[in-house]
Amino acid sequence: MTADRVNSPNEMGERCPFASGAARGAYADQSHGVPRVDFSPGDTPYVAYAQIGTLLSLQHPRTNAPTEPGFIILSQVKELLFKLLHIELTAVCDLLRADRLEEALWTFRRSTRVQRYLIQAWDVVGAMTTVEFLEFRDELGEASGFQSFSYRKLEFLLGNKNADRVAQHRNSPAYESVLEQLHLPSLYDVALAFLNRHGLDLPREVLEHDPTVPREPHPAVEAAWARVYSQPSFFWDAYKLAEALLETDELFVRWRQVHLVTVHRIIGDKPGTGGTYGVEWLRRISERRFFPELWKVRSKE
Ligand code: HEM
Repeated sequence: MTADRVNSPNEMGERCPFASGAARGAYADQSHGVPRVDFSPGDTPYVAYAQIGTLLSLQHPRTNAPTEPGFIILSQVKELLFKLLHIELTAVCDLLRADRLEEALWTFRRSTRVQRYLIQAWDVVGAMTTVEFLEFRDELGEASGFQSFSYRKLEFLLGNKNADRVAQHRNSPAYESVLEQLHLPSLYDVALAFLNRHGLDLPREVLEHDPTVPREPHPAVEAAWARVYSQPSFFWDAYKLAEALLETDELFVRWRQVHLVTVHRIIGDKPGTGGTYGVEWLRRISERRFFPELWKVRSKE
């Protein structure tokens, strides 16, 4: 197997001597399989490649509370996973636009695993008790996950558009990208355009939907999915797409629900640091579905 990639030189203009299977094999033969450890100071390749030094310099608990490092690290892990999920779902949109369905489905395979990982990460956060959280909660001030721009971009990408959610990022370097995401077509917009190109005609008002506002459930969209589910083998491509979309939606709902129950266990009915009544607000947003017609069509006989 060969990888089609560039072996770029480092700052000294040197190319990596390990950048081919043959070179790695030759080294292992010569060292009898003993790993290499003689790197120049400050130049451990793994640390340089993934910028581990920078990454590990970003955790600064404000108290001595034993659970604060875990809270900060898990918040950062989730942010990284939001970013990765955004990368994967953006790729899905690009592939669907290009009618490359099989590759889009292959990419969903990765994105849904990221979502499962995001859900699992609640396990670690949930190990913290009320008493332990209260040891450092006041230090958060007004900080809340509600202000996560990566999360907001994901919600917009999935179609939960809300222009009021953009303003809070005005002073952040991410402002332009949040605003851009508001104006970009959502995954559902792209998926419905795909259906329309593949034998499931949709009306103009569905196809020319304003991307900056959320879609309202539309009878023509429901009817199109109903046709798909009534003849899966005839609409096989659309059927596979429907199931991939629904899995994405379901995993997002699950993420919200585990967040909700974890938060309920940790802070009860106390208000959130972001200004809401807390669990009551989280319960309401847990009802949200990105692709409502795909849920509705399941009630049909
Ligand atoms: C003890 C742990 C946590 C508590 C008590 C908590 C509580 C809350 C509350 C009450 C809200 C509603 C907004 C507010 O008033 O603040 C919220 C929103 C949110 N939280 Fe958490 N949270 C916790 C951990 C986390 C973690 C680790 C993340 C991951 C980054 C996270 C991500 C979010 C996001 C993205 C929202 C906005 C949801 C939306 O707009 O739909 N939370 N959280």
